[in-house]
Amino acid sequence: KGRNAMTITAETRLVGLFGYPVGHSLSPAMHNAAFAALGLNLRYVAFPVPPAHLADAVRALRALSFRGVNVTIPHKVAIVPLLDALDEEARAIGAVNTVIVEADGRLVGTNTDGRGYVRSLVEETGVDLAAQRVLILGAGGAARAVAVSLAKGGASRIAIANRTPEKAAELAAHLAPFADAWAVPPERLADAVREATLLINTTSVGMVPHADETPLPPEWLHDGLLVSDLVYRPLKTRLLREAEARGLVTHGGLGMLVHQGALAFERWTGRPAPVALMRDAALRALA
Ligand code: ATR
Repeated sequence: KGRNAMTITAETRLVGLFGYPVGHSLSPAMHNAAFAALGLNLRYVAFPVPPAHLADAVRALRALSFRGVNVTIPHKVAIVPLLDALDEEARAIGAVNTVIVEADGRLVGTNTDGRGYVRSLVEETGVDLAAQRVLILGAGGAARAVAVSLAKGGASRIAIANRTPEKAAELAAHLAPFADAWAVPPERLADAVREATLLINTTSVGMVPHADETPLPPEWLHDGLLVSDLVYRPLKTRLLREAEARGLVTHGGLGMLVHQGALAFERWTGRPAPVALMRDAALRALA
């Protein structure tokens, strides 16, 4: 204590990111800003880990006294059998985005993606989840995390629409224990949008370098529809701009990134995360 928290010392401990690739991650900027602000002798480093080296990288967490890591594409499911235990959220989602190295060396997997999304959505829009008819566009890993946490957070009606209908059906089946969930056949998408009160894009449609694209014709947007997009490059997708132009409440993807990071930070440090500061750091790294 009293030493400059920015100096790397013999007591400095690591956290980080295992992904492949990791070059565009905003997490190092976000977490290192938070560690510096709170005077914590921790550093966050992004490691590009090829799939063939994942098991070695996970074993190294214990040997090198890591406090934990975030896990991203393509390792979120592959890491599950390499850990000692999963918490309830990671089990329900079936994927891990955060590993905690416990004091006794046990590696525990959790998933903060879905809870980070829900915390951001509720804080930024005040939405009452129990009252929503949710329509999720996409059925990949992000959709699964968001859908499970929405259901656990009180959303009881969840429709899933996806380019590949079989994957929508699979996700709906996965959600059955948590909510009334069903797959929307592609030819019924317009009706599903009309019936929805909360629309969530979890696909990469509208992400740079395809920022001119949108998953829905703007004519389908209607009064009372809350429009949420997980994409944060750009911060405001074409979908969100068209929804705003129609006077609708919108919710962008940066909040999910910040809050999944804040929840991981809290697990690693036992301290409340400086969320506003982490958001500013992410925004600066994005610029
Ligand atoms: P993530 O972890 O981000 O969810 P993913 O698991 O690869 O990534 O899932 C990507 C999702 O975006 C899928 O639902 C995918 O649809 P398919 O299942 O049909 O592949 C959807 N997606 C990606 N590009 C798309 C596009 N151009 N049009 C429609 N859907 C798209």
